[in-house]
Amino acid sequence: MRSTKVKNRLLGAIVMAGIIVSVAATGGAQAATVLITGSNRGVGLAFTKSYAEKGWTVIATTRNPDDADELKALAGQHKNVAIEKLDVVDEAGINALAAKYKGKPIDLLINNAAVNDGDGKGATLGALDAKLFDRAMRTDVLGPLIVSQAFLDNVAASDQKKIISITSPSAVLGRPMTKETRRAHTYFYRPAKVALNMSMKILAAEVRDRGVIVGIVHPGGVDTEMLRSAFGGKPVAGAQTPDQSVAGMVKVIDGITMANSDQVIGFDGKTIPW
Ligand SMILES: NC(=O)c1ccc[n+]([C@@H]2O[C@H](COP(=O)([O-])OP(=O)(O)OC[C@H]3O[C@@H](n4cnc5c(N)ncnc54)[C@H](OP(=O)(O)O)[C@@H]3O)[C@@H](O)[C@H]2O)c1
Repeated sequence: MRSTKVKNRLLGAIVMAGIIVSVAATGGAQAATVLITGSNRGVGLAFTKSYAEKGWTVIATTRNPDDADELKALAGQHKNVAIEKLDVVDEAGINALAAKYKGKPIDLLINNAAVNDGDGKGATLGALDAKLFDRAMRTDVLGPLIVSQAFLDNVAASDQKKIISITSPSAVLGRPMTKETRRAHTYFYRPAKVALNMSMKILAAEVRDRGVIVGIVHPGGVDTEMLRSAFGGKPVAGAQTPDQSVAGMVKVIDGITMANSDQVIGFDGKTIPW
């Protein structure tokens, strides 16, 4: 009888110590939650790693969880990473995931997933491919909007209330069109990112009254499949690693407030004109 009491007290002390350690690890507050699209590679995978290491709860989404080997390995190391299937052009799938997470506060939604024009062949004058245009617009513009719509209540119910969409410096209208940038970005990706920026500006104005901040952030040039595919599959001189770019963007996202929410801010903290 006495030994049962001692055992129970010991068990209680161990549970309490565990709670204290985990609260201390999250700075005393409950861990924040982030949902990231396109988490299986490139910038999205680096975002997942970064927030996982910071102790956030990460809902890491990818359209093909079965093939997401690097993401699965990361989730194996970090129990705070949950992998979910999400294709940003599949509205029914997006709504089904939102239903699964109904009532769960999501502090930060990162609309990262996107496509460019691949090798650009179908987005050159003389060979313009409407299917490639539709794919860029659906994925890069409508996708972030529909995902934001589906998870808006989760974001509004959170502490930080942030929706961040990843754009490109190539979408800046005033940027000079050099031979190099013309070849690399072709006809569909850049207009898609211009439209993304404008749709996020509209969203920012609409959800402001709910205290939701909508930010637009660009990663600079990053050595990923996307950048390489635009340059014949080769690494591009001067490109950052995904980890380097994400380290900058995480700081920028942290500092975004309602005041600078509808500006385009780079990984380096610099605001660029549209
Ligand atoms: N890399 C750069 O230099 C650069 C520069 C400016 C802006 N950006 C922006 O940074 C973001 C990340 O790009 P990245 O360089 O990491 O490109 P990436 O390596 O090509 O990765 C793109 C990610 O988007 C996912 N994706 C594509 N279509 C999707 C869909 N329908 N549903 C869900 N996920 C989808 C891909 O998943 P799958 O593996 O299934 O295809 C992949 O996870 C993008 O918004 C991009 O426009 C990149």
